[in-house]
Amino acid sequence: MKIFPRSYPSFNLIALVLIALMVAPLITDTRIWAQDQPAGNIKVPKGTLDAVTAILTRRSIRDYTSRPVPEEMIKLLLTAGMAAPSAFNERSTEFVVVNDPKILREISQVNPASLQLKKASVVIVVCGNQNKEKNKGQGYWQLNGAVAAENILIAAHAVGLGAVWTAIYPYPDRIPKVQKLLNLPAEVIPLNIIPIGYPGERKMQENRFDPSRAHYNRW
Ligand SMILES: Cc1cc2nc3c(=O)[nH]c(=O)nc-3n(C[C@H](O)[C@H](O)[C@H](O)COP(=O)(O)O)c2cc1C
Repeated sequence: MKIFPRSYPSFNLIALVLIALMVAPLITDTRIWAQDQPAGNIKVPKGTLDAVTAILTRRSIRDYTSRPVPEEMIKLLLTAGMAAPSAFNERSTEFVVVNDPKILREISQVNPASLQLKKASVVIVVCGNQNKEKNKGQGYWQLNGAVAAENILIAAHAVGLGAVWTAIYPYPDRIPKVQKLLNLPAEVIPLNIIPIGYPGERKMQENRFDPSRAHYNRW
């Protein structure tokens, strides 16, 4: 290809190199966009419910079978928790996976109402790291933690697991007990404990749409 006259061969070479540099990124673009299907290098198990179905059919599951939860499922749930949005993208939520039977026994005594904790062989403790907050004291670690926890609950249901939010925050008696048990730094506050397991109980789906709770434009 001759772009410049014969007398300027080096210009031709430069022009070709410039064109190649412009075209190369278009050919070698390997970026994975948020809208891409399937989910690029994030592996989702076969048979996973779609997001809307999972949201609309999720229930709190408080009884579990003895079938062990594979490690890659826990990793998937952690990935779901970490995929959640966070204020200022501060990612203040931290996750403690507990599968040591001794610690599980001790942790199940922190919230006496949470008998389901005794049956789970693995739990995720969702915590807020106040040191990672960009605007301290605004309640963002709690909000960031809540959306991460909800992602875990929905993802667990979507892949056929059962889970439930058991409250640690805002109970002033429970928080220091969990901090001590798990060796958490003072600035890391446990929000909840999510026991995970294959469901040992069946729950009905509930359509909770209530038009009286929906307000358009003004109350
Ligand atoms: C902030 C919060 C705290 C909760 N605390 C507990 C708890 O300590 N123990 C428990 O068994 N369930 C707890 N739950 C689960 C609720 O009881 C449950 O979501 C509610 O009854 C609706 O049932 P469903 O999850 O099956 O739709 C909590 C849920 C939320 C969002």
